[in-house]
Parts: sequence; structure tokens; C-alpha cells
Amino acid sequence: MQDPIALITGATSGIGRVAAAQMAAAGWSVWVSGRSRERAEATAAEVGGRAVQLDVTDPTSVAAAAATVGELDVLVNNAGISPDYAVPLPDADADLFRRTYETNVFGVVTVTNAFLPALRRSNHPRIINLSSGTGSLTWSSGPNPQFDFAQAAETGGRLAAYRSSKTALNALTLLYAQALAGDGVKVNALAPGLRATNLNPAAAERGGDAAEAAAAILDLARIPDDGPSGRLFSFDGSVAPW
Ligand SMILES: NC(=O)c1ccc[n+]([C@@H]2O[C@H](COP(=O)([O-])OP(=O)(O)OC[C@H]3O[C@@H](n4cnc5c(N)ncnc54)[C@H](OP(=O)(O)O)[C@@H]3O)[C@@H](O)[C@H]2O)c1
Repeated sequence: MQDPIALITGATSGIGRVAAAQMAAAGWSVWVSGRSRERAEATAAEVGGRAVQLDVTDPTSVAAAAATVGELDVLVNNAGISPDYAVPLPDADADLFRRTYETNVFGVVTVTNAFLPALRRSNHPRIINLSSGTGSLTWSSGPNPQFDFAQAAETGGRLAAYRSSKTALNALTLLYAQALAGDGVKVNALAPGLRATNLNPAAAERGGDAAEAAAAILDLARIPDDGPSGRLFSFDGSVAPW
């Protein structure tokens, strides 16, 4: 496969920023997108990519970014928020869910649909959705749940909006993969593990190196044409349960 052209949403910090740096170091052409044009330009200059302003909740900015970018092989839907980190479920109202879903779910639909024409022109199109192990219903339920909603150390009783948004993203991953199979577009989700980023205090205080998660993004971008699609992968390359 020739060096791909990639775009990462929310690449101005955290996992997305490290992934952009790794892609650029590997010789890929990388679009560093961010909702702040200035920060996208600064990050692109630092990592060796090109900058484009893109707010996943703003369809006008997404359409403008798609027009600017033109050709694309790899779309990384990385932008995400977890505004309910400190909010237990009974206090998380519909507005909090709506705000979370605007970025983590609806934003992915807006961005994916906007870049589909370019991806369909690619010889090896790939979409990688940054999900979370906490969105896995299997890992959240018995008999030995890693992320029991009420008990899990990182999320106990909180993050219902965030976690369910990632469950929805997992479903979208499967449905897009099936819908786009005929176009050769591979669509997979990644559970990156807890990483030291600005996402929320648990990530910032107890997260591991974001580089390991970024490397897993590159692995999914390099999946061969006969490789898997419609899967949730853990950062170590194993298939995670929905
Ligand atoms: N870190 C972890 O432990 C962990 C675990 C599981 C999953 N994840 C997932 O990994 C992805 C990356 O998160 P991260 O940990 O790297 O956190 P992060 O450092 O907070 O990065 C998130 C990025 O998303 C951007 N963003 C937020 N809203 C946006 C919008 N409307 N339009 C465009 N960009 C937007 C942020 O931009 P601003 O800087 O402008 O806010 C930021 O660059 C997320 O989807 C997250 O859910 C992370």
C-alpha cells in the first residue's frame, strides 16, 4: 500500500495528536484537524502535517474541511468528550446526554458521511473510530465484568452518557462496516485503554502512554484489503467483545 493520506479529528491533543505525529514520522500525509484553527496549525507545524479547522458538531465546518482535504485514504474519528465524568447517572439529564452524543456519535456520522466520497475514491479506504472498553456491554456485564457500571474503579456510577455514546459508536462501526463493505471501506473501532490525556481526571491521573494507543490506530489504518472490518479491537490487537 502506498503512503496513505489520513485525517484525524480532534488531533490537537491527546491520542489524536500522538497518532498524527506517528503517521507523519512514518511518511504519511496527515491532516491535523481541530476545532481551533490556531491550535490545529500549531500542532501541524510541530508534528509535520497539514492543518484544517474541523468542529465535528458543526456540519458547515465539516463540509468545508472535506472540500479542503480533497483526497483521503484513512479517516480517524478520534474527537471525543466525557463531560459527565463527575456526574452520577440520576443527575445526568438528557441535555448532558445530548451534548455528549453531539460530539461522540452524531459528529462521527457527520464527518464520516462528509468524507465518504473521498474514501470511496481511495484504493484502500479505512475508517477508525475511537471507542472505549467502557462502552462494551459484554465487559460491562456478568459474569466477570471489567466495567460494572456501579463498581468500576474509573467510572463507578458515572459516565453513563460517555459510556453509552461509545456503545452507540460501536454499533455505528458495525453498521457502517456492513454498509460500506461493497466499496472496500474497512471500518473498525479501537478501545485504546486508559491513557494520560485531557479527556477526564482518571485519564490524566492514571492513564498510560498515549503512544501505545496511537500505534494501534496506525495498525488499523494498515489493515490489508483482506483484513477484518466491523470489529472492536483492543489496543493490543486482540478483538474485544461488543
Ligand atoms: N484517554 C483515555 O483514557 C481514553 C480511553 C478510552 C477512549 N478514549 C477516546 O479517545 C479519543 C481521544 O481522546 P483523548 O483521550 O486523546 O482526549 P483529549 O486529549 O481530550 O482529546 C480529545 C480531542 O477531541 C477534540 N474535540 C472535542 N470536541 C470536539 C469537536 N466538537 N470537534 C473537534 N474536535 C473536538 C478535543 O479538542 P479541544 O482540545 O479543542 O477540546 C481534543 O483534541 C476520544 O474519542 C476518547 O473518548 C480515550
